[in-house]
Amino acid sequence: MYFLWLCILLRVTLISGNRFDPHVFPQRGPFFEGWYIRLIDSDNGNSIGLLFGQVLPDVSKSVNNYPPVLCSILVRSCSVTGCKLFSHDATFNSSDVKVRVKGKPVDKNPDISSPANFTWLAKNSVSFVFFRSNVSSSSFRVKFGNVSLDGELSSPIPWGPDGEGPEGWVDKFPLPLHWFVYSLRSSIVSYKFKKGREIVFEGRHGTAHMEKNWGKSFPKAWIWSEGISPNNVTYVVSGGHVQVGPIPITAHLLGYRNPLKNISVDFHPYDSYISAKYDGCRGFINITARGPLHSVELYVTAELSSFSQCLYGPESQGFRPVCKETYDASATIYVYRLNILIDKQFLSSVALEFGGENVCGGCTSLKK
Ligand SMILES: *[C@@H]1O[C@H](CO)[C@@H](O)[C@H](O)[C@H]1NC(C)=O
Ligand SMILES: *[C@@H]1O[C@H](CO)[C@@H](O)[C@H](O)[C@H]1NC(C)=O
Ligand SMILES: *[C@@H]1O[C@H](CO)[C@@H](O)[C@H](O)[C@H]1NC(C)=O
Ligand SMILES: *[C@@H]1O[C@H](CO)[C@@H](O)[C@H](O)[C@H]1NC(C)=O
Ligand SMILES: *[C@@H]1O[C@H](CO)[C@@H](O)[C@H](O)[C@H]1NC(C)=O
Ligand SMILES: *[C@@H]1O[C@H](CO)[C@@H](O)[C@H](O)[C@H]1NC(C)=O
Ligand SMILES: *[C@@H]1O[C@H](CO)[C@@H](O)[C@H](O)[C@H]1NC(C)=O
Repeated sequence: MYFLWLCILLRVTLISGNRFDPHVFPQRGPFFEGWYIRLIDSDNGNSIGLLFGQVLPDVSKSVNNYPPVLCSILVRSCSVTGCKLFSHDATFNSSDVKVRVKGKPVDKNPDISSPANFTWLAKNSVSFVFFRSNVSSSSFRVKFGNVSLDGELSSPIPWGPDGEGPEGWVDKFPLPLHWFVYSLRSSIVSYKFKKGREIVFEGRHGTAHMEKNWGKSFPKAWIWSEGISPNNVTYVVSGGHVQVGPIPITAHLLGYRNPLKNISVDFHPYDSYISAKYDGCRGFINITARGPLHSVELYVTAELSSFSQCLYGPESQGFRPVCKETYDASATIYVYRLNILIDKQFLSSVALEFGGENVCGGCTSLKK
């Protein structure tokens, strides 16, 4: 009960813009905040990812050399034998980062429903990252050495009304880790990925998935997958082992949308039963989610050869190689209402990630 009141108090005092906006960093770590955007070009099925974020390390732990600030561009490289995901990474010092909400330093946490309006900049002698998001547009300009990514996206298609995200009402609690999906499928206005003077990918059609995480650290083990069909069907799922106070829990969150059939269903631990089977070494996740009215079966699978090497993720001491991801998975989805099949979809070019202890072979602190 006290816990509940404390949470309500915390919420009113600390969490009062849109959760895509940046949060205030506490005086002491560990704390992190990271954004992730994945573009799918509807003209050719290609996909590009952009992620950037910052960690305030836990100084009580032993010192290390993990970078506190990271930006990665994820690109597919395809040959006759198939496609594989690769990352281009840049690291920064904390002092290289400048974050602004409505043009000012971040002095309060975002409220829930007002539109996003922020800029995120990191700059040192060799790399540059600029991201900007507002009610009608998001844009980015990234340059590491001779690699660059530029683009613009239209207004968000939100997860739910009034700033609701995948966590549902639980997002009001001070959980060790939060996940917010800002946009299920913003339209791509334009993007361009270049190596030197060569334009490797560019396009003007397609969609972008936009999300973020914040909290103490990524969990010990997790899975994540997200996809979109040409008919605007979208799904997103994540799950992992999180420590809530002294209690370790395994929690999964899943959302499915089919606007043409007017289906919009979400599953949370507090209102649904979700069972998940997965294996990073076989490249699949099978998930069954049952809510009061609807249930969803989701089967995602990918060739092991399509997964990236270990990608960086935020941990309590900085960014470390922690997960493997592919943009070449496929998903089969069945949706039932009162046990009657109401929708079946097959999605290609979906994203699938195994993190922490779920990574096949694990990730050492050295990138491999
Ligand atoms: C961080 O700052 C230190 C000292 O100012 C410098 O030596 C180092 O190269 C910087 N690292 C990055 C990634 O900019
Ligand atoms: C968004 O931020 C800009 C400064 O970056 C400010 O000029 C503008 O008024 C803000 N818009 C809203 C709706 O608050
Ligand atoms: C929103 O950001 C875009 C760039 O992404 C900019 O061109 C536009 O002026 C901004 N709109 C508002 C209302 O601030
Ligand atoms: C880009 O730079 C890398 C090393 O920094 C080099 O190996 C590569 O050839 C360069 N590519 C182009 C297209 O300039
Ligand atoms: C998908 O959504 C976009 C924007 O929301 C819309 O312009 C397009 O017509 C939709 N496609 C289909 C097949 O409904
Ligand atoms: C779509 O479904 C919602 C409930 O999920 C319902 O309130 C709404 O009337 C439906 N719209 C249409 C066009 O069927
Ligand atoms: C996962 O789902 C696939 C497709 O339905 C099935 O072939 C496979 O046996 C399932 N794996 C497990 C471990 O349940």
